[in-house]
Amino acid sequence: MRIGVIGTGRIGTIHAHTLSRHRDVGSLILTDADPARAQALAHRLGETAAPGVDEIYTWGVDAVVITTATPAHAELIGRAARAGLPVFCEKPIALDLAGTLQAIAEVETAGTVLQMGFQRRFDAGYTGAREAVRSGRLGRLHTVRAMTSDAEPPPAGYLAQSGGLFRDTLIHDFDILRWVTGREITDVCAAGSDAGPAVFREAGDVGTGAVLLTLDDGTLAAVTATRMNGAGYDVRMELAGERDQIVVGLDDRTPIASTEPTGPPAADKPWTGFLERFAPAYEAELVAFVEVVRGERPNPCDGREALQALRIAEACELSRRERRAVRPAEIPGGQEAAFG
Ligand SMILES: NC(=O)c1ccc[n+]([C@@H]2O[C@H](COP(=O)([O-])OP(=O)(O)OC[C@H]3O[C@@H](n4cnc5c(N)ncnc54)[C@H](O)[C@@H]3O)[C@@H](O)[C@H]2O)c1
Repeated sequence: MRIGVIGTGRIGTIHAHTLSRHRDVGSLILTDADPARAQALAHRLGETAAPGVDEIYTWGVDAVVITTATPAHAELIGRAARAGLPVFCEKPIALDLAGTLQAIAEVETAGTVLQMGFQRRFDAGYTGAREAVRSGRLGRLHTVRAMTSDAEPPPAGYLAQSGGLFRDTLIHDFDILRWVTGREITDVCAAGSDAGPAVFREAGDVGTGAVLLTLDDGTLAAVTATRMNGAGYDVRMELAGERDQIVVGLDDRTPIASTEPTGPPAADKPWTGFLERFAPAYEAELVAFVEVVRGERPNPCDGREALQALRIAEACELSRRERRAVRPAEIPGGQEAAFG
């Protein structure tokens, strides 16, 4: 199988490494808006670099992996779909609902596959949490607390194209909250803070955000994110039920110090970032994609799942701006408008 990888930045490099060493992937064609970057990676991996996206199609591939900056995703998904090719794309599909709906419509019209890169669905901790909820071990779930704390802000150039903290970062928490609990979100109440480094204000973004979400079975979830957590990279989810309570992301590398005399010691080697923390999950989602391309398993995360997560993020942006609770169902371009 030959796969085209479009975008060879931080995440594209990781995915290209995984695919290059996969025994069912014969070769890769790598391309990037910065051709020197694609060439350097191709050289390191012993793969081929193409001067542009056109060559991916003229030279011929069996599937496409899209890891460009977010604004290019929707158009590239549409192009691959029209070529009848299965696509893996990093989250989110687009920075707005219109682009998201257009890309999904192209995929559905073409009858092709779009697998989205919500890698937490392949993380051992979240998978265990989902099983615990489903097994009934926790009893009736009443509270979920979740967080994504980046150790340091991404490059300023990335921020400007990211869509902001809710669409770029918290979207992972929204997706995994739905996936672990199996519930839909009925309303959100969000706040954001741009106190701290000017880089967030300059990008029209916030550096820290918090959301209170109500699930359709009455469970309450409190979710936070920040771009600058001095102690390290911290991604956690606590689920509390009437019978038991569990936590994802608590291990000997969790960057938090207890002030209790008998508390656990602070981590010697706290997690530094997502590439390290989620390395096994990034690999597993690409291994799954190869199986999806071969028709050996169903798609683990399609475009409609990504749309739901984006609608929650959009609802949060509206809630933050208007300082009120917002139902994701209020967001235009919902199920009815898109697919009705
Ligand atoms: N799943 C995750 O945990 C995760 C983590 C980080 C980033 N991401 C997503 O991955 C995507 C890339 O993020 P990154 O951190 O690798 O960014 P990055 O800035 O490191 O890399 C993006 C690359 O895309 C290239 N590019 C931009 N537009 C292009 C186009 N039209 N055609 C070809 N190449 C183009 C840029 O030159 C750059 O090399 C984003 O959509 C981001 O949301 C996902």
